[in-house]
Amino acid sequence: MADNVQVNIDGKTLECPIIVGTEGDKAFDIGKLRSTTNFITMDPGFGNTGSCKSAITYLDGEKGVLRYRGIPIEQLAEKSTFVETSYLLIYGRLPNQKELEAFSDAFTEHSMIHEDMKNLFDAYPSTAHPMASLSAMVCSMSAYYPELIKENPTKEEIDRIAVQLLSKIRTICAFSHKKSIGEAFVYPRHDLRYVPNFLNMMFDSPTNPYKMTDEVVRAMQVLLILHADHEQNCSTSTVRLVGSSHANLYASISAGICALWGPLHGGANQAVIEMLEEIQANGGDVLKYIAKAKDKNDSFRLMGFGHRVYKNFDPRAKIIKKCADDLLNKLGIHDPLLDLAKRMEEAALKDEYFIARKLYPNVDFYSGIIYRAIGIPLNMFPVMFAIGRMPGWIAHWKEMIQDPTTKIGRPFQIYIGAPKTDYTPIEQR
Ligand code: CMC
Repeated sequence: MADNVQVNIDGKTLECPIIVGTEGDKAFDIGKLRSTTNFITMDPGFGNTGSCKSAITYLDGEKGVLRYRGIPIEQLAEKSTFVETSYLLIYGRLPNQKELEAFSDAFTEHSMIHEDMKNLFDAYPSTAHPMASLSAMVCSMSAYYPELIKENPTKEEIDRIAVQLLSKIRTICAFSHKKSIGEAFVYPRHDLRYVPNFLNMMFDSPTNPYKMTDEVVRAMQVLLILHADHEQNCSTSTVRLVGSSHANLYASISAGICALWGPLHGGANQAVIEMLEEIQANGGDVLKYIAKAKDKNDSFRLMGFGHRVYKNFDPRAKIIKKCADDLLNKLGIHDPLLDLAKRMEEAALKDEYFIARKLYPNVDFYSGIIYRAIGIPLNMFPVMFAIGRMPGWIAHWKEMIQDPTTKIGRPFQIYIGAPKTDYTPIEQR
């Protein structure tokens, strides 16, 4: 392969060095394009644009491959825990026993939120979407822990914020749920590990003690692991872009939470269940809704279907579908929405429109069925995605801030507005 790509424009020639990744991904570097030729590239939605080099996550959309730090997602989902996977993403390798214990203990130590922060929950109406309070509270942590906000934090300071964020996000989410249902907060317990602690804070109450099962804990571990990173998606790119201005980690992640909220991204898990409920309420006519999804004059889309990168199958969806089946069987739950989702999938995968466009179920298509079985309320589904994505956001922010070649993110545009126009005083308009 050549070392360079030559770009010839208006009699000017630019040699663009070729960059090849570990798995053979190829790019050419157009870093000198504007200064040499006065042209920029145009790529709305960034479908052809690399924004960075990264050593965190690899995915191959054609083959349905997803690996964190080289380890296949299937192996992590089967054998790892969310805490161990978080360590892997943030520190670049699996921890030994001592490191894992220290990491877990640090979560226990930092699980409480500042007592004053509890007042913030009172400021929100009980009907507020929990993603609104989550992003605000994560950003507010910068006000409660100002000693960690520095333009150039040390490695130790970054580690401390990372542990705080990972640990406290559980508490914030569980407290916001308790607030929304008018129940007293359940405080984190020192004898419970990451996932059991979260479930206990969510569902325990003095009148109805929570009965935790291994099946539910494992299903939750699997979901969190599968959501833990997905390279340069919308929310992670947001975290990196905001962080590139040297905004602190809390502020950058708060912005990522807002980006995740949208129904085309992490809000899709909520949108899928709302869609299935609507279809069920209207008689369960799967083909009618498939036709709506194909109709270009209808804004309806098949939520939980399609992906920018996966064009064959989403490996996360495959694992989640099996996990949903297993969990519901073990808990003895029959959810008619699972049957409906399977009928939708079957009909869509046979349909020429979906085949031609390579549209398959994504991570969000079946995850909501599991959250429902566990008892997570519908508007908290995107919040669950946010808890899962936290280690990925942290790992990317850290990689970005520690890379000396990082520049502030600042895309260009092609201006299509009015040409120069003189100001007209109001009386002459
Ligand atoms: N239902 C119907 N048609 C679809 C769908 C869908 N879910 N997704 C894509 N298409 C069509 C789209 O209309 C277009 O058709 P045409 O070529 O005739 O104009 C073609 O497929 C390509 O779609 P696109 O919108 O250009 O693809 P994209 O890469 O920009 O968007 C997506 C990817 C995930 C936003 C999109 O597939 C979608 O809106 N899906 C539903 C929302 C969803 O499930 N989001 C969760 C994504 S996975 C979790 C995460 O990581 O965020």
